[in-house]
Amino acid sequence: MAAMMQPQIILLKEGTDTSQGKAQLVSNINACTAVADVVRSTLGPRGMDKLIHDDKGTVTISNDGATIMKLLDIVHPAAKILVDIAKSQDSEVGDGTTTVVLLAAEFLREAKPFIEDGVHPQNLIRSFRNASYKAIQKVKELAKSIEGQSLEEKKRLLSKCAATTLSSKLIGGEKEFFASMVVDAVGAIGDGDRLNMIGIKKVPGGTMRDSFLVNGVAFKKTFSYAGFEQQPKKFLNPKILLLNIELELKSEKENAEIRLSDPSQYQSIVDAEWNIIYDKLDKCVQSGAKVVLSRLAIGDLATQYFADRDIFCAGRVAEEDLLRVAAATGGTVQTSVNNVVDEVLGTCEHFEERQVGNERFNIFSGCPSGRTATIVLRGGADQFIEEAERSLHDAIMIVRRATKNSTVVAGGGAIDVRFYHI
Ligand SMILES: Nc1ncnc2c1ncn2[C@@H]1O[C@H](COP(=O)(O)OP(=O)(O)OP(=O)(O)O)[C@@H](O)[C@H]1O
Ligand SMILES: [Mg+2]
Repeated sequence: MAAMMQPQIILLKEGTDTSQGKAQLVSNINACTAVADVVRSTLGPRGMDKLIHDDKGTVTISNDGATIMKLLDIVHPAAKILVDIAKSQDSEVGDGTTTVVLLAAEFLREAKPFIEDGVHPQNLIRSFRNASYKAIQKVKELAKSIEGQSLEEKKRLLSKCAATTLSSKLIGGEKEFFASMVVDAVGAIGDGDRLNMIGIKKVPGGTMRDSFLVNGVAFKKTFSYAGFEQQPKKFLNPKILLLNIELELKSEKENAEIRLSDPSQYQSIVDAEWNIIYDKLDKCVQSGAKVVLSRLAIGDLATQYFADRDIFCAGRVAEEDLLRVAAATGGTVQTSVNNVVDEVLGTCEHFEERQVGNERFNIFSGCPSGRTATIVLRGGADQFIEEAERSLHDAIMIVRRATKNSTVVAGGGAIDVRFYHI
């Protein structure tokens, strides 16, 4: 009982800002409005892009609200929440990240005079809740279902959704071209929730229209050793072996310390090492694979060995690419070359190494599981392609969502205007 009677004591660190009440609320609103003013000019098809550079000299040109908000170094605790709003919109929906920040800031600005007049924040919150409830009802009334439409019609609608998303971006001029590419890419990955199955590869140079979609996997040629050029670069229906081991002579001696009493034994140790690597290579060849990929290095000895046997190999393949090849071709990544049975080998209709701009690409197309797609983006400078990738990401997310939710409303500001008249 005595404890309950004691007044509560809260200890705060020295220098803590304890300001509260009306003045603090207004100051929070002002901070949010200031941040929203930064992204305001990027909204819509006539919106402009922002050029942001940081201390390290990295330059980003973007129209994407979430990207701009993330790059702004905001210190005000209330305004930081706007960054989180943009981030969550980006991960949940993909598009509309500028809109959510602006809407939040506008709501706050509308609320400011009421706060100044002494209206309790709880009352304001209740009104906003009511308004959002009504708005959601109205959206549902206006929404149009794409369920039950023919495949062609569905594709047309989805590609319209993608085009609306792209219209406010740098690549807006080519929105139809990219919209149909995005719809095909999303269609290729099927129902799974694995957006990482759509790879986007950037190759500077060329024009935007040189971009293309691969129904399968494509990745930049990895570092290769002597002998690589003698390997064949094109196969029809090859078996594909995926590895997570190093095929290099040096790999055997890394953790070994051997003490020799007789120098003549030295040769036998060297021979043993060669035998081990040859044994590994033999097993790869015997598996019947025509394409060998490894996440780790494939050295010069192995490269030459495979070249002599008309096998293509690539080492140091990025993990995400290797996993996508595995998913697309139906293969499994092996950590040993012992017992490589047919089931763990992948396959595809067509494999080739092709020149794209100044880069060479390994392209696997016509994959049996068909659950992957790769967009190879071309055009202009690095920053341009980076922004194009972000824009495509928005469009991919939107098409994905539209295929799942299957109801759409008119975009391009139409729905906003409709709400204005409620
Ligand atoms: N043709 C148009 N006429 C009028 N308004 C349009 C038109 N096309 C798009 N809009 C409006 O532009 C806004 C979209 O702009 P923008 O794509 O720059 O921002 P966002 O989608 O909110 O964010 P981000 O794309 O950066 O994630 C939407 O409010 C949309 O209604
Ligand atoms: Mg947008």
